[in-house]
Amino acid sequence: MSRSIRACTFLDKGGTGKTTTAAHLGVALAEQGMDVLLVDLAGKQGDLVKHFGRWDTVEAQIADEDDWPNVSTVFQDQWDAIAEKLGDAAVENLILETDEGVDVIPAHPGLDSLDAELGNVDDAQDRYSRLDSFLNEYIEPLGYDAILVDLPGLTNNVSYNGLWAARNVVAPVEMGPFESEQAEALRADLDTIGANFDVDVELAMVLPNKVDTRTKLAEEYLDAFEEAYPDAFAPAFVPVSQDIRNAAESGRTVFALEEPSTTAERARDAFLENAEALADRLTDERAAAAGGELA
Ligand SMILES: Nc1ncnc2c1ncn2[C@@H]1O[C@H](COP(=O)(O)OP(=O)(O)OP(=O)(O)O)[C@@H](O)[C@H]1O
Ligand SMILES: [Mg+2]
Repeated sequence: MSRSIRACTFLDKGGTGKTTTAAHLGVALAEQGMDVLLVDLAGKQGDLVKHFGRWDTVEAQIADEDDWPNVSTVFQDQWDAIAEKLGDAAVENLILETDEGVDVIPAHPGLDSLDAELGNVDDAQDRYSRLDSFLNEYIEPLGYDAILVDLPGLTNNVSYNGLWAARNVVAPVEMGPFESEQAEALRADLDTIGANFDVDVELAMVLPNKVDTRTKLAEEYLDAFEEAYPDAFAPAFVPVSQDIRNAAESGRTVFALEEPSTTAERARDAFLENAEALADRLTDERAAAAGGELA
């Protein structure tokens, strides 16, 4: 029962707010007193650490060739041998602390070729479960309460690893005519994983993002989503807020803004409410799973 709760932010579409959501839900969970680790598998541009002003550090490490081991190393056949050789430092060096109360394993350019490398792993179980094995063996002993994995906006071997390890998806969706199809496609994807492999990946939260309540249509889309996803629909939507964009550009989340705008305050409240709901759902599920194992 010491296992941390886990989720990943995922939708097979770019730019809906996966990284923004991972960063803000992470800080919101930390505000509730949880120890939180964020893992960036979303690509070399390091969007996630940019939300915490730590990109300079990562970039300097890469430039100085002081960037090994990194997040892509843990997927390699040799990882166990590397970890044994380096001892505790192997994992410690992967993790960056931030001043918003969350720790981050940043992305790395090595993620670029990872999809193809994983494609060469013959056994499907082995190909998709490498992140899960890493988290179980090397991260769980560190005692984090929650692990959030930020995934790329496409379905590939890397995102499958994230889905497999997290088992729970938070899908940020924009309100628009084709968005419900995206969420439908995601549900179908998750069903396929469940059918092909013996793992259940749940759609834990469908989170409307960039909602512009000044438009009448937004209300209609929100209603339609709530109807389509009664169990997973987030309790609060995140409004469109220029402050979210500005905060990210200045290396912060909206939680670190000293003078947040009205929309930024609403976004904060929404992330706090959603984080609480997510933690409740995942904690209940974990308890049920543990009960099942005991029975
Ligand atoms: N609620 C919001 N209001 C205003 N801007 C937002 C909001 N949410 C996200 N954004 C902005 O939208 C852009 C895309 O967000 P983000 O990077 O989180 O999406 P993503 O799904 O991770 O994208 P990618 O698929 O490229 O990884 C960013 O510039 C971000 O600052
Ligand atoms: Mg992203």
